[in-house]
Amino acid sequence: GLANTREMFKKAVGGGYAIPAYNFNNLEQLQAIITACAETSSPVIVQVSKGARDYANETMLRYMALGAVRMAREMGSNIPIALHLDHGDSFELCKSCVDSGFSSVMIDGSHLPYEENVKLTRQVVEYAHQHDVTVEGELGVLAGIEDEVQAETSTYTKPEEVEDFVSKTGVDSLAISIGTSHGAYKFKLKEGEEVPPLRFDILEEIERRIPGFPIVLHGASSVLQEYVQLINNYGGKMEGAVGVPEEQLRRAAASAVCKINIDSDGRLAVTAKVREYLSQHPEEFDPRKYLGVARKELIKLIKHKNETVLGSAGRA
Ligand code: G3H
Ligand code: 13P
Ligand code: NA
Ligand code: ZN
Repeated sequence: GLANTREMFKKAVGGGYAIPAYNFNNLEQLQAIITACAETSSPVIVQVSKGARDYANETMLRYMALGAVRMAREMGSNIPIALHLDHGDSFELCKSCVDSGFSSVMIDGSHLPYEENVKLTRQVVEYAHQHDVTVEGELGVLAGIEDEVQAETSTYTKPEEVEDFVSKTGVDSLAISIGTSHGAYKFKLKEGEEVPPLRFDILEEIERRIPGFPIVLHGASSVLQEYVQLINNYGGKMEGAVGVPEEQLRRAAASAVCKINIDSDGRLAVTAKVREYLSQHPEEFDPRKYLGVARKELIKLIKHKNETVLGSAGRA
């Protein structure tokens, strides 16, 4: 069956690598994730956002994840697979996911006043732990993609809060804000300007205060420029799309960061390949054709992440 994240994180923190957490909304994405992770022997977290539930139906997604475990076993792979709620925003939602069989949930109270975040997170932990479901909390706010100036709206995690938060809530892992953001436009760069480095100084201060505690990095797509270029070459318009350089993620994975969330990179790979295929094969109308090439590219991308960025390959 599904695994919670406890063992995965323990091994990852000790081993200096990170578990990939890939979002999924449809069949081809999930097939690609499971195939790539089974073939690279990587533990994996498949996660479901609110947008995913609205798009594909929570029950459908849950049964897909259970089917994915079966598929992996039939492939002869014993990789641990967790089904995780991404960015849960209420106790009721987290409870319903626990009740229906998710093995892990996130309660994201990061935009709440500190004491309210503690209270809500504590409530979710108390319920989830009775059912052996692990809980991710968050401190600090990631910048929104729509924001004009990143630094004005992202609030870095305050290291002086983490010890108190972790001990009062009992969370199993903590998402932090050190300069990443969601989506494909993570930094507004002026002409010739380079991507600013993540705030590893804040991460180090957090690690100093809660040594060995599992840390989670959201907004960790690299926005690979080969995909942005393909998209732009085949009728798309994604000028200025930029992400976190892979080198920064390698450094994060080697630290107490033990879960790295990736969604946008997969979306870009799929869109790039669908655009390219349809424009090169205008006579085709079978979705299996263009979704097939997209799924193949997604497998390649995920193997690349596991093998060369997160270091999770061969760890299952
Ligand atoms: O947290 C953000 C994830 O990329 C999910 O995004 O809400 O559009 O599915 P979504
Ligand atoms: P990206 O948009 O960088 O892929 O981040 C995904 C994420 O953090 C999901 O929770
Ligand atoms: Na790590
Ligand atoms: Zn996120």
